[in-house]
Amino acid sequence: MKDTRQVVLTQEIACAEEKSPPCGLVVFGASGDLVHRKLLPSVFELFRRQLLNENFYFIGCGRTKLSDENYRADVETVIRQSSPDVPEDMLSRFLGSLYFVTGDYNDPSFYKALSNRLPDLEAKHKVSDNRVFYLAVPPPLYGLIVEGLGRAGLSCRGGPECEKIRLVVEKPFGRDLKSAIELDRAIQKHFSERQIYRIDHYLGKETVQNIMMLRFANAIFEPVWNRNFVDNIQIKVAESVGVEHRGGYYDKAGALRDVFQNHMLGMLALAAMEPPASFEADHIRDEKVKLLRCIRPLTSQSANTDFIRGQYVSGIMDGKSVPGYRQEQQVDPDSKTETFVAARLFVDNWRWKDVPFYFMAGKRLAAKDTEIAITFKKVPHSMFISAGLPDLPVNVLIIQIQPQEGISLSFQAKRPGSKVCIGTLRMQFNYSEVFGGEPPEAYQRLLLDCMLGDQTLFTRQDDVEVCWRLLEPVLQSWQKQSSMSYEYKAGSESFPQADKLIESDGRKWRSTRET
Ligand code: BG6
Repeated sequence: MKDTRQVVLTQEIACAEEKSPPCGLVVFGASGDLVHRKLLPSVFELFRRQLLNENFYFIGCGRTKLSDENYRADVETVIRQSSPDVPEDMLSRFLGSLYFVTGDYNDPSFYKALSNRLPDLEAKHKVSDNRVFYLAVPPPLYGLIVEGLGRAGLSCRGGPECEKIRLVVEKPFGRDLKSAIELDRAIQKHFSERQIYRIDHYLGKETVQNIMMLRFANAIFEPVWNRNFVDNIQIKVAESVGVEHRGGYYDKAGALRDVFQNHMLGMLALAAMEPPASFEADHIRDEKVKLLRCIRPLTSQSANTDFIRGQYVSGIMDGKSVPGYRQEQQVDPDSKTETFVAARLFVDNWRWKDVPFYFMAGKRLAAKDTEIAITFKKVPHSMFISAGLPDLPVNVLIIQIQPQEGISLSFQAKRPGSKVCIGTLRMQFNYSEVFGGEPPEAYQRLLLDCMLGDQTLFTRQDDVEVCWRLLEPVLQSWQKQSSMSYEYKAGSESFPQADKLIESDGRKWRSTRET
């Protein structure tokens, strides 16, 4: 039968997925939201996809007093929700590898209890030395837990024998340059860089990884991927949700720390870096850092002119009234924290000199929409002037990260009709249409890579520092309140001051409706 889809997979290259080695995963903060919503469902999916070694155990750690049985019952509920069709025998095999250790992270006896438990579980599950410690706790506890692990002799630092003992750290890595350096020093006392896996879950998204495939597995894009052909690049992380149940954390972070310093600069680095020599972790990470170092430094003045912040007030979304940010739970009613940031950056190197990179991120915007849009320059001369077309629309290549994962390219072509009848067409690759279903959750990729010892998709400390260093003038200026924060209605696409940032350059934000 004829395949009517517009994009078809014609050849599959190198799709083999490596299974994890025998391994133990020790998760701190096991009763928390991240573990329930993301980690456990992802570990289970790896198990279901047979990518988790049969020799595996999982220890949840937390303050709540729970026996192994109680913990398994909790996890069972989580898995039944995330995978309603789970076969019973599979679920019970999975649950059989879960354990719980209760304790206070301040108390040395907790680490003692953990270290007493590990050898038995390693023997029972035939795991010799691969251990992953996962910090899914609030950031102020990172240093404390690492110190506890170190004192209890559970960490290892130095030679290759230590590389199988790994530490996963969730973002944010510090809240500014100074605290990021301090945190790193505290961690590096007990784990070396090759053992530290800093998670930025955006790097685990299929469509974010696809930036590298699109750019470097094709010969046709790189020749035009530069200042000679590209007019501007827009990177957007628009969310329709508010701060949900994370008001306490978010109010101390804000959009700049929460998504700009990590996810957005990470996407910029992948979209704009030079081709790495190979698909090796450090070759890729070197190029990312080199690119980030080329971003034109900000000053207190550019922090005010090139960064715009806003905070949502109540509005109507999907026909329902939603509260403003200051009315959200655990948020200071006088909070000045930004829930929106728009920015303009330049990358001062041969490839990108003077090409503006525009960024927009915000909560409670009209729709969820994460994308990188590469807008190419106009044709140098329109041969259709006489037909009344002095200005032709431009080509736009969109890397759609979510919710419609894919890639699209717009171009002009002849439409049926009069002799000079031109229309803008869009070639569209839609991930779910071609491959079926949703792409796997980013955490599956990241957890598996960590167990395999592959650091490619994890953030290196020099990357973290270069991003914080860049943003220092903005953080300082915002702290002094010397720049204005604006209000926007929940459900808006943007607001006038953010529009002005891009319109003053004669350009416009891409609208969510154009997606
Ligand atoms: C997280 C932020 O890192 O990313 C959240 O802390 C944000 O505030 C989330 O909502 C967005 O992730 P995603 O995968 O839904 O785009």
